[in-house]
Parts: sequence; C-alpha cells; structure tokens
Amino acid sequence: MADMSVGLERSNGIAILTIDRPPVNALSHELRKLIAARLDEVARDDAIAGLVIACAGRTFVAGADIEELGLVRHPMLRDLIDTLERIGKPSVAAIHGTALGGGFELSLGCTFRSAIADAKIGLPEVKLGLLPGAGGTVRTTYLAGAEAALKLAGTGDMLDATSARDLGLVDVLFDSDLVAGSVRFLADRIAAGNIPSPVSSRARPAERTDDGQLAKMTAELCRKARSSAPEQVAKAVRNAIDLSFDDAMIEERRLFDAAAASPRFRALRHLFFAERAAAKPVETVDAAPPRTVQSVAVIGAGTMGSGIAMAFANSGFDVVVRETGDAALERGMKRIRDTYDRSVTRGSLSREDADGRIGRVSGTTEAEALSAADLIIEAAFEDMAVKKQIFAEIDAIAKPGAILATNTSYLDVNEIARSTRRPSDVLGLHFFSPANVMRLLEVVRGADTAPEVIATVLKVARRLGKQPVVVGVCHGFVGNRMLQARNSQLSRLLLDGADPADVDAAFRNFGWPMGPCQMQDLAGLDISWRNRKALGKVDLLPDRLCENGRLGQKAGKGWYRYENGRDPKPDAEVAALIEELAAESGIARRTVGEQEIIDRTHGPMIDEGRRILEEGVAARASDIDVVWVNGYGFPRDLGGPMYWDEHFRTSSQ
Ligand code: 3HC
Repeated sequence: MADMSVGLERSNGIAILTIDRPPVNALSHELRKLIAARLDEVARDDAIAGLVIACAGRTFVAGADIEELGLVRHPMLRDLIDTLERIGKPSVAAIHGTALGGGFELSLGCTFRSAIADAKIGLPEVKLGLLPGAGGTVRTTYLAGAEAALKLAGTGDMLDATSARDLGLVDVLFDSDLVAGSVRFLADRIAAGNIPSPVSSRARPAERTDDGQLAKMTAELCRKARSSAPEQVAKAVRNAIDLSFDDAMIEERRLFDAAAASPRFRALRHLFFAERAAAKPVETVDAAPPRTVQSVAVIGAGTMGSGIAMAFANSGFDVVVRETGDAALERGMKRIRDTYDRSVTRGSLSREDADGRIGRVSGTTEAEALSAADLIIEAAFEDMAVKKQIFAEIDAIAKPGAILATNTSYLDVNEIARSTRRPSDVLGLHFFSPANVMRLLEVVRGADTAPEVIATVLKVARRLGKQPVVVGVCHGFVGNRMLQARNSQLSRLLLDGADPADVDAAFRNFGWPMGPCQMQDLAGLDISWRNRKALGKVDLLPDRLCENGRLGQKAGKGWYRYENGRDPKPDAEVAALIEELAAESGIARRTVGEQEIIDRTHGPMIDEGRRILEEGVAARASDIDVVWVNGYGFPRDLGGPMYWDEHFRTSSQ
C-alpha cells in the first residue's frame, strides 16, 4: 500500500484531522499510531474546542486492516475510540464513501456523525466470520436498538446514509462540502452548548427486546449466511442490553478474539484477498487500454442466453438478443419479462426498475442487428459444429474491435476462435446458471486472446457485479473439470454400499448446500449422459437411470423420487437398480462411512486441481478456491478446496 499520513489543520477553533492511507484508509497499526499522536495534540491544545475526523481519497475508513486482524499491537482501535470519548472536546466523524467495520466503530467514538448523502455505513465483520471488535455491537445497540444492531452486524450489509440517519446512527447529512459543513455544524452545536455525552456514558438501552424475535432473526441470519457467525453477533448485542457498558465491551472483545483465532476466520480472510486477486489481470496490460463496452449482443434466448441478457440489463448495458426463429425469440423474451415480473411480485424490484431493465433488452432474428455490438456472447447449443458456424457468421458482421465470446462450458475455445479471422478478439465467458443470479464468471483466455480483451472483460465483470476468474483452455475449464473428477467415484461409491441419501448427507454435513445426487437431479441427469455419449463413455448406473426416464427433478424422478415437485424421497427402484448392478459386477455391498465418501469424492477433485495448476490452466491455487466457492457452493468457511486441502484436511489426518 502507498504512504500514509494523518494531517491536522485548524479552522476557527475546530481541528480537522485527515486520515490518508490509500486505497481505503484501512486502520493498520502504523496508521493508528499516527492518529493517536494527532489526538494527543488535539487534547493538549487549549485553542482547539472541537474535532472533525475526515478522510482523504475515495472513502472514510473502510475498517481495520484485514491483514493485521488478530494481532495485538498498541494502540488498539478501541484505545483510540476511548481517547476520542475522553478527550473532553466534542467531535464529528465526517463520512464519505463507506465507513465500515472499525471505520464505523471509530465514528461511533465521536460525539456526532455527519455523512455525505451517498455515503454508506456498515459492520461487515460477520462476512469474515467475526463480529465487530471495537464496540460496534454495543454502541450501535445504544444508539439504534438491539434489532437494528443485529441486522446491521448480523448481515454485514451496508446501510445508506439516509437510513442510518433515520436509525439515529448518523446525525446530519450534507449534499456537498462535507468537511466544511461538519465544521460549521460542530461550531454551532458548541456555541449552543448542545453537546450530548459520549455513547459509553449514556443510559443503557432500556428496551426489553423480545428474546423470541432476536432468536428468530439470528436463526434466519445463520441460515442465509450458511454460517454460525451471526450467533456471536447476537450474543454481543444481547450483552449490550443485559450487561453494563464496560462489561458488554469486555465480552464483545472476548468473542472477537476467539473468532479471530479461529480457522474459519483465516479461511474467510484467505478468500477476501483471493477474490480481489482473481479480479485483476495477472500481467500488467501496457499494450492497449481496455475497450469500451456498452452494447452487448447475446446469441441464443434459451435459459442461459436470457439469463446473460438480464445480467447485462441489470447493470445498465444495452442488450440485443438474437434467435433464429420468431417463436424461440418470443419464448426467450417472455422468459425475461416473466422473471422481472416475478421479482416485482416478490417485492425485490420496483415496477419502474423492472420496466427500465426490460426496456434495455431488444430481440432480433436478424444477424445484421449484431453489427454494432461492442461485445457479442454466444449462448447457443453446446456443439462444436454449431458454435463454429455461429462464430464464422459473427466474424463476417461484427464491427472491428468487437469482443466475441462463447459461453461454452466444456468446448475448446481455441478451436472456436480459429473459425474467425480475429482469434485475438475471441475468448470464453462461462456464466453459471441462472446467469442473472450466480456471481461466478470463468473468463477463458484462448491461446491468442489479446491482453486488453481480458482487461476489458474484467472491467465489464466488475460492472456486472460478477466475480471473474481467468482460466485457460481445457475440457470443462476449472470448475466443470474438477466437478467431473469429484463425481468420478460416485457410481462406485453407490455400488460399494452407499445410498444417494448417504452421499448427499455426507456432503451437507461437510457444509455443501446439497450433495451431488440432489444436484444432478436438479440440473438434469441427461446433460452429462449426452456428454458421455458424445465422448463414447459409459457410466452404467446413471446411464440406466436415464434410459429408464429418470432424468431428474424435471421428470419427477432421478436419483430420488419427487412427489411434490422439489422434495427428494429415496426410491426403492433406485436402491434395487444399485443392488442389481453391484451384483452383476460382483461387488459385495458394505457400509460406506461419511469420511470415505468425502475422501473418495474430494480426493480426486483436489488431484485434478493440482493438475490444473501444473498445466497453468489456473494461475493460482486461490483462483480455484474462488471458482468453487462462488460457482459450486463449496463452503466458504473452509476457504475453497485447495485451501481446505492444505489447512483443514491435512491437519485433521
Ligand atoms: N483491510 C485491508 N485491505 C483492504 C481492506 C481492509 N479492511 N478493505 C479493502 N482493502 C484493500 C483490498 O484488498 C484491495 O486491495 P488491492 O487493490 O491490493 O487488491 C483494495 O483495498 C481495494 O478494495 P476493493 O477492490 O474491494 O475496492 P472496492 O472499491 O470494490 O470496495 C470496499 C471497497 C467496499 C471498502 C471493500 O474493499 C470492502 O468491503 N472492504 C472490506 C471492509 C471490511 O470488511 N471492513 C471490516 C474489517 S474487520 C474490522 O474492521 C474489525 C474491527 O471490528 C475491529
């Protein structure tokens, strides 16, 4: 990180302390020392009647420095906050950008918080498996009540400045001139003698919070986050009501220290930096700046194509969707409209926003309509001949400089690129279904893809709110290739003695949202059946399921039987088929334990990951972790498969 400084200016008896540590003013130990020294100056200078704390650059303090979390180095953040409260001079935290975690906690040590109208505050520690460690849960409960504190610190989501003001967490908003406005605000309050006492010496929140309601909220937070971390937040919030301020602070710190010493925190911190590293080009791109992308064409209006179209429309791109026939196009456009309508009915989108997004998507059956697009994404049938024909066609009409992408999930992007006269403009953009929801985007770099094309799509991915990972060309890229390896032993495990329900339970206990049998039923067993047939491969057990019409949830039966749509029930027919095939193969079925299920599925997956690294298909092990956590539901708390293998698996052996 670049140099840091903490400036101190004086303006009519008010000191302005400016924290400057790009890029996000994270509170490292060095920075805390500089702030402490400035606070000391303020305390000793009798000419200073009040203090405004502001930040340079794009944001107010975005938190403690995550690299240093868990290290005990004085002054600790809570010492600074104590000093602020005891300095004997009123203070204002002037918030722009995002005041997060320790940054928001620092602001809570000030007498007042002012904010520019588009600023946001938040306590996102829970996303790192932590809770606020410098009074965030306690002071937020004092200012806004237990439910608001639990919601803020338990979800980790940001709150806009207006909502924060309505909750009593921010005192005054400014449309512009934040620092000057804050100085005036403080001077007026001092002149009027209207200065409240520090939060720590205010009365304990009297509210008798509904325990049942807090417990319900906590359970819901844990369910949504697939983590028990919100429980620690809930305990700290509860303490703020039940204990004295000082005792609640001690308990918050104790809970924080325990969480910061946990393997879960280390895994989540690994992912924090891994996700940011994956979103950047590996090499510095000095050849040409990223290209401009505003108009996007999507070829194919099936589930994938319409999902991709919606992902772009949601982020303000102009989208044209192309199908070959009117009926298919109309089905696709209807799917898009229906999806937005459902969001409106659910209340997650306003009618106006939905109409705006629908209005950004147009449909066409004419190839020429793609000629103006900056980025063309093919989302047609997964067949090499079909793809090559489409790419030859778009090569003939796309404007110079347009980026041509295939959404293939397995096929050779180099071969597709060679069907054009501009392979340097071609790459793979592997979206995950539903593409308007799933965060992962595998950016498949072909042998000839130009560096600025990669840089451009990484920028586009950021605008889409996607998590990109750059991968190389191979069958199935990183995710699907490892998925195949993970599932390679599945049939044998079942023949050896496990039931589909045993396998799925082992996966859920590991932390996956669902096991492989349930997942295959959801996706449709025919997808990999078709793939196997194309490659001349046989997998007797799932092949027989498909031959018997057991294609998964959509057929009402697959590995399981589905009576009410989605609820999987073990099926005697499947059990009998497994017994029959085991007997035919001379396998004496036996009890297969959870550990064996995990070893025989995850082991091959990790081995494949290692091969992927050796071949350079992924640049770093952490990129593989990012793929699996964001695209396949690998438990975040375990850091991704490669991290798990190094830090959890070996230590448990
Ligand atoms: N510590 C260290 N580095 C941080 C950081 C932090 N708290 N927050 C961001 N960074 C770094 C990122 O790693 C990245 O570095 P890089 O450029 O070298 O990759 C750089 O700052 C920019 O970050 P983003 O790419 O994420 O920038 P965005 O503009 O997309 O987002 C942000 C900015 C919203 C501030 C986002 O970075 C963010 O959410 N940061 C984490 C905030 C957080 O979790 N704070 C709580 C920390 S824990 C804490 O405070 C404990 C306390 O209670 C005691």
